[in-house]
Order: sequence, then structure tokens, then C-alpha cells
Amino acid sequence: MTIDVIAIDGPTASGKGTVASLVAQRLGFHYLDSGALYRLCAYACLKHGVDLADEKGCGAAAAGLEPVFKDGRIFLEGEDVTETIRQEAVGIAASKVAMLPAVRAALLDVQRAARKAPGLVADGRDMASVVFPDARLKVFLTASASARAQRRYKQLIDKGISANLRDLTRDLTQRDERDRQRAAAPCIPAPDAHLLDSSGLTIDETVAAVLAWWKRLAA
Ligand code: DC
Repeated sequence: MTIDVIAIDGPTASGKGTVASLVAQRLGFHYLDSGALYRLCAYACLKHGVDLADEKGCGAAAAGLEPVFKDGRIFLEGEDVTETIRQEAVGIAASKVAMLPAVRAALLDVQRAARKAPGLVADGRDMASVVFPDARLKVFLTASASARAQRRYKQLIDKGISANLRDLTRDLTQRDERDRQRAAAPCIPAPDAHLLDSSGLTIDETVAAVLAWWKRLAA
């Protein structure tokens, strides 16, 4: 029996992580944050001085990753990296290593191994197109660049991290371009994905829209 997957893809700060984990909670499904794997790989490269354009070196770092997920925390080589990998600098580095086919290939099996009963909600850029092309429901979640920059700004300020809206908008736009233009698994909607623009929606409304599509499929 195939295990159901709900794929939620979209650009940075589109809210897909929050939405995907809430949908998973509501359905009692597992949740895969695939971006965390690219962030872990980028962090390992930065820590060990691997050039982010060195495909062989970054691919080896991705293949050698042994993260431990425990009680909501993420450990790498014994270090608690839960907050560190969320930093903007690591996100930017993640978007660079994510361009390398060797890195993407090395992370494929780990992502597919997350498909466990009773089901999986997976968020990322290529969940619907590459990792789980047979996902039962595919959603491409987006929001305008200014709405996403505002959200990211608020998140950082709420965490007590200083931030500058203009710099955030610039970094986010550059990351979007890199994620969309790359040859390997670009961040574009799968042909059979439902498009959802959350610019004017609350998190609850966005979650409700995904659950409504799911209910219709399950009916
Ligand atoms: O979703 P995120 O911001 O945590 O992802 C960080 C970077 O990782 C993002 O800029 C692109 C890359 N990524 C990817 O290429 N494919 C995925 N499935 C998830 C993330």
C-alpha cells in the first residue's frame, strides 16, 4: 500500500514550514522539513571550510550528514544547531549548495525515508516535482516578496534578532532567483500543483485551504 504524501513547495518565507507542520499535526501525519537538510549541509560546509561551489566537497558533506533529531532539537556532530541553521547566512549558503546536483542526489534517500505510515507532509522546493512525484496532494504556496520579507522581519524581531527590512527583501529576492533559475530541481510549481497565494491570508486560513483540498481528495 502506498503511503500518502502531501507536498507543499514554495519560495523562502512563504509560510510553508508553519503551514506544513500544522497540516501534519491536524492529520496525525509525519512532517519533513527538507530545507533543514540543505541548511545542515551548508552549515557543515561552512564549519569545515568547504567551498560552497565545490560540488565534490559539498556532495561528500551531504552524504556524510548524520543529524540527530531529538525532542524538537537538531544536533550535528554533537552540537545543538537548532537555532544556528535558521540564521539568514546559513539560509543563503543553503540556497548555494542546493544548486549542486551532487548535494541534491545525496539528500534524496534521506528525504524519501521520511515517508512513513500513516502519511507524510513534506515541505521544500521540489517535493512535488522530484522527491515525491506521486504525492497525492501537491500545493505550491507563495506570497508576494514584500509580504514574505515583512513576515521574516517580524519573525526575527520577535526572536530579539535585529533585522533590516531592505536587506531582507534584497536577500530574499536574490535567493528566490537562485532557487528558481537553477538547472537542478528549480523552485517552480509542478504542473499538477494547486497554487495558493497566502499574501492576504492568515496561517489558519492557509491551513484550512490545504485541508479542504485534502478532504475533497479523500472523499
Ligand atoms: O526552506 P528553507 O528556507 O529552509 O530552505 C533553505 C534553502 O534550501 C533554500 O534557499 C533552497 C534549498 N532547498 C532546496 O533547494 N530544496 C528543498 N527541497 C528545500 C530547500
